[in-house]
Amino acid sequence: MSETKKKVALRSAEWFGTQDKNGFMYRSWMKNQGIPDHEFQGKPIIGICNTWSELTPCNAHFRKLAEHVKRGILEAGGFPVEFPVFSNGESNLRPTAMLTRNLASMDVEESIRGNPMDAVVLLVGCDKTTPALLMGAASCDIPAIVVSGGPMLNGKLNGKSIGSGTAVWQLHEQVKAGEISMHDFLAAEAGHSRSAGTCNTMGTASTMACMAEALGTALPHNAAIPAVDARRYVLAHMSGMRIVDMVWEDLRLSKILTKEAFENAIRVNAAIGGSTNAVIHLKAIAGRIGVPLALEDWTRIGKGTPTVVDLLPSGRFLMEEFYYAGGLPAVIRRLGEADLVKHKNALTVNGKSLWENCKDAPIYDEEVIRPIDKPLLADGGICILRGNLAPRGAVLKPSAATPELMQHRGKAVVFENFEHYKERILDPDLDVTKDSVLVMKNCGPKGYPGMAEVGNMGLPPKLLAQGVKDMVRISDARMSGTAYGTVVLHVAPEAMAGGPLGIVRDGDIVELDCANGKLNLEISDEEMAQRLAARAQQPDDSAKSGYQQLYINHVLQADEGCDFDFLVGMRGSKVPKHSH
Ligand code: FES
Ligand code: MG
Repeated sequence: MSETKKKVALRSAEWFGTQDKNGFMYRSWMKNQGIPDHEFQGKPIIGICNTWSELTPCNAHFRKLAEHVKRGILEAGGFPVEFPVFSNGESNLRPTAMLTRNLASMDVEESIRGNPMDAVVLLVGCDKTTPALLMGAASCDIPAIVVSGGPMLNGKLNGKSIGSGTAVWQLHEQVKAGEISMHDFLAAEAGHSRSAGTCNTMGTASTMACMAEALGTALPHNAAIPAVDARRYVLAHMSGMRIVDMVWEDLRLSKILTKEAFENAIRVNAAIGGSTNAVIHLKAIAGRIGVPLALEDWTRIGKGTPTVVDLLPSGRFLMEEFYYAGGLPAVIRRLGEADLVKHKNALTVNGKSLWENCKDAPIYDEEVIRPIDKPLLADGGICILRGNLAPRGAVLKPSAATPELMQHRGKAVVFENFEHYKERILDPDLDVTKDSVLVMKNCGPKGYPGMAEVGNMGLPPKLLAQGVKDMVRISDARMSGTAYGTVVLHVAPEAMAGGPLGIVRDGDIVELDCANGKLNLEISDEEMAQRLAARAQQPDDSAKSGYQQLYINHVLQADEGCDFDFLVGMRGSKVPKHSH
């Protein structure tokens, strides 16, 4: 190790390593925290990027998590410095945490580049925090390791397990259908979220934690260990130890986040029944590190991959069972043995390949992590749709959909925006049947703004009362990874950006054909052109914050990952000028 050590020039030495005015200032002010001289001598300074916030309950245990990371860093001969960044809490932030994902990524990028650190540990949990921190760190390209906060324990209601988010959608539909009382609905709250951690379903947080592990940016088992399990804190300690060696090995994100790593992650997403949000987030992360990733990669690589993880919202179990069954290494072993891991040699943060890490992983429960020939769904790859209704693509999650509805023609019932939907869906005279297609406009990146998770529109109460459980729904919105249904999302371009979704009218026939990747409005090209030309852009005079206006002006469409146009790309970690 000492040979390698000599070869790596520490970035932090450009702050703390000189005997002059600047060195004095950088060291002296740090010393007010009781830091002795020797901490500044030749040790890697490791940033711990913390998304802790009491307003992000999924990440509220992160001060303790950071302490364990620090112990590991100190043990390995590094020096930890913890710093806060904008915390994207999914449950409280309005209008949507997606609006501030890019803001957080800018915070992360500038914090890393402007400060004395040689590497960074990314403490992530609640779903947007994972892509935000990976995006920011990728733009700097320094050694980085992801430590997730872990999922909550299983939710409990009347002695049975209930899943985060998924139970809310289900119970709310049951209230509307008159199957349970409002009293029981509200009583379910306490048991729904009963420990520290992120949503315990295979929602976006769990999906992105799995993606971070499949990409190789986290140690094995990072995705699934429950937040309150002591082994989560051991993993934090080991990650702290490991990041110090990553500095001496100059193991930067660009060596991990290769095209091969993204292709592995896409396949893993199909196997776990992962969230559609991964399509947007992986694209945004890839864009930062400079890896080309197209929607068609999801079809090319994901299509035909069986979903073997039997977790809600697609299946039956929760993240606790997933960890006890063997966690993500077990899934990767399953896939690899079936020749479904395309790039077994992809490098991971522990210096070993993905396959070395997973090839002997034990599988303890074949109900939860099912055999390849007894999958939950034979083809779990995210379905990418195109057609005159979505020229730049749309997505649907087959494992969360009703198979019979994935090939469907029906009459559109159109909502101009989310407010119109909420009002109109309650109308007892609404001309809607179980075969109708619910179409909602103006909920995309610019339209909402922030592309909220409203795509899984609740069904009309009168149909719920008749026992209807699913209908085809189409919008330019996203949906929560905890949600389910035959829901077409991310229609691009969005209505607000002039996309054809904006010209759909009540009664138009829409055809969804998942097997062939088609989403079409059955009108002629002439009619389409006429309607698009005649379409009056509704003036949007609603008050916007400065950041919201920046977002609307610069956000890219869903097929491009919803990053800001000016943030795409890697800008490196060159040490900036002195401030004095
Ligand atoms: Fe934080 Fe679901 S609300 S992960
Ligand atoms: Mg979410």
